[in-house]
Amino acid sequence: MNINSPVPVGVLGGSGYVGQELLRLLAGHPGASVAFATAESAAGERRDGVGLVRIEDAPLARAEIVLSALPHGVSARYVQEARGLGKRAVDLSADFRLSPDAVYGLTEVTRPQVATADLVANPGCYPTAALLALLPLAREGLIDQSREVVIDAASGVTGAGRTLARDLLFGEVAEDFRAYAAGNEHRHLPELKATLAREGGFTGDLVFTPHLLPVKRGILETIHVPLTRAIDRATAEGIYETVYGNEPCVAVLHGALPSLKDVVYRNRVAIGVAAVANVRRPRLTVIAAIDNLVKGAAGQAIQNMNVMLGLPETAGLTC
Ligand SMILES: NC(=O)c1ccc[n+]([C@@H]2O[C@H](COP(=O)([O-])OP(=O)(O)OC[C@H]3O[C@@H](n4cnc5c(N)ncnc54)[C@H](OP(=O)(O)O)[C@@H]3O)[C@@H](O)[C@H]2O)c1
Repeated sequence: MNINSPVPVGVLGGSGYVGQELLRLLAGHPGASVAFATAESAAGERRDGVGLVRIEDAPLARAEIVLSALPHGVSARYVQEARGLGKRAVDLSADFRLSPDAVYGLTEVTRPQVATADLVANPGCYPTAALLALLPLAREGLIDQSREVVIDAASGVTGAGRTLARDLLFGEVAEDFRAYAAGNEHRHLPELKATLAREGGFTGDLVFTPHLLPVKRGILETIHVPLTRAIDRATAEGIYETVYGNEPCVAVLHGALPSLKDVVYRNRVAIGVAAVANVRRPRLTVIAAIDNLVKGAAGQAIQNMNVMLGLPETAGLTC
């Protein structure tokens, strides 16, 4: 890494929760510097020493790579504008996650493709944790595809972004706990299904129910996995250890289950398992925890950027 000439990075949407996290992480990155950061209503303000400019005024040419934390639907247009100027890009919105024009940037799974990509679609926060938990089991043929995999997930309120919304006010959220998007129609489901099929050969059904947890950041997913054959906890942990033993950003717990304190402010997914007693057909409970703003968004984007630029993969990150 050449610390004397850091790579200039452009940040789109630098005033949002994810954009602010990008700027926080980039401020401590030894091989990158912020060329510009944009905002809409917060244009003119500063974050981490960077003045936020309107997106129309963004000096795109100054950046070598652009990270976009714009809302989906808005992001694609500006990412394409940057690509038109020959810039590489990581898009953190959902706009390219199902597109053949982008590499899906689940770093631990698609690292070689990320390295040579011009456009990386950063995965969603819920999918990052669920996919890293499910893919090793799917690849071993351990998931019974005739039964549903059930994912019950709870996210802190920053997962909904910084836009004002009445049902996200402190008075509505504090000391409460509720499901939302019940009925298996959450927008992350197509991304989950497509990636499990492509990377894990799993084409069975998923039932995904998100919940709103009254904390700022962090996601905990309880994943109920129907198995083709019974395995005990040590065997399951061994499967994860084989896959992730050398991965700096995946923590496999042994004889313990993760909680949010294992992951907040860290670029990591923590995975723990429990064998399921008192059922007639074999099943495993997998618990996965992630910081939605770090490994679920800004941290993984920087991990992908590092891979794209040939920098050490965890530069600027605490895993
Ligand atoms: N929050 C998460 O945990 C999470 C996790 C993974 C992926 N993501 C994805 O990351 C992206 C950003 O999420 P977020 O939670 O940071 O959202 P956010 O807090 O609502 O921030 C959105 C950003 O985009 C800017 N913006 C909004 N509308 C714009 C427009 N029409 N033109 C130009 N700029 C505009 C906002 O500027 P102002 O605030 O200055 O108006 C802000 O900087 C989204 O696509 C989201 O789906 C979020």
